Amino acid sequence: MLEDVGVRYGGVDALRDVTLTVERGHVLGLIGPNGAGKTTLVNATTGLAPLASGTISLDGARIDGLPPHRIARAGIARTYQNIRLFGALDVHANLAAGAFARPGRLSAAEIATLLERAGIAGADLSARAGSLPYGDQRRLEIARALAGSPAVLMLDEPAAGMNPSETTRLVDTIRAIAAGGIAVLLIEHDMPLVRAACDSVVVLNFGQTIARGTPSEVGRDPVVVEAYLGTGAEALA
Ligand SMILES: Nc1ncnc2c1ncn2[C@@H]1O[C@H](COP(=O)(O)OP(=O)(O)O)[C@@H](O)[C@H]1O
Ligand SMILES: [Mg+2]
Repeated sequence: MLEDVGVRYGGVDALRDVTLTVERGHVLGLIGPNGAGKTTLVNATTGLAPLASGTISLDGARIDGLPPHRIARAGIARTYQNIRLFGALDVHANLAAGAFARPGRLSAAEIATLLERAGIAGADLSARAGSLPYGDQRRLEIARALAGSPAVLMLDEPAAGMNPSETTRLVDTIRAIAAGGIAVLLIEHDMPLVRAACDSVVVLNFGQTIARGTPSEVGRDPVVVEAYLGTGAEALA
């Protein structure tokens, strides 16, 4: 849970007084125009951006101020807006890297399960990650994040670069991950995807929360429509 979180870059408030909670089993959408602070929120939560104010906790324990690897061990995993796989390494090595956050090695059965949960069942473990089709790379990032057995999964524009049918399939993947008891935060620009995947939505603009509610409530909110003018938020309503 984030409480009154602020992040400042130079003189700019990238986030100001943001409060939100992601619950296990739920998908919380985080939307807002470019530069609104969505990625910064994930960076702040995962220890990559220092807080100027506020607190972040997981199951009641403060995690803000911890280094990224401790936050990952505490149970928060993410994917990146720009894919950050180890492209020169194979699929197996990428999954093993994701598993550093938990004890023990990944068994073959666990690997098969991870790939299936991420929607790339049967992927060739010896294939170079960078050689996979683009959509599969995005899914491998999800599998790598799941390899740490996280309590919270933060997905930063996972559908970016996917075609419409891949995007539709991604909804099922995300819903199934949440149904497995993980708290999912989904940053997404594709409004039909947000509507289909999210239980609730928080809208950021210029680093501040301007609306929250169900996807359809948010899509009808005049403040949101204004902030998004012409960008398709009305598709939520
Ligand atoms: N590392 C950084 N250094 C300086 N400014 C940054 C940095 N990261 C993000 N910002 C600024 O913070 C604001 C929010 O950016 P970001 O979180 O990437 O937005 P979003 O993901 O919603 O598009 C923008 O004004 C951006 O330029
Ligand atoms: Mg971003």
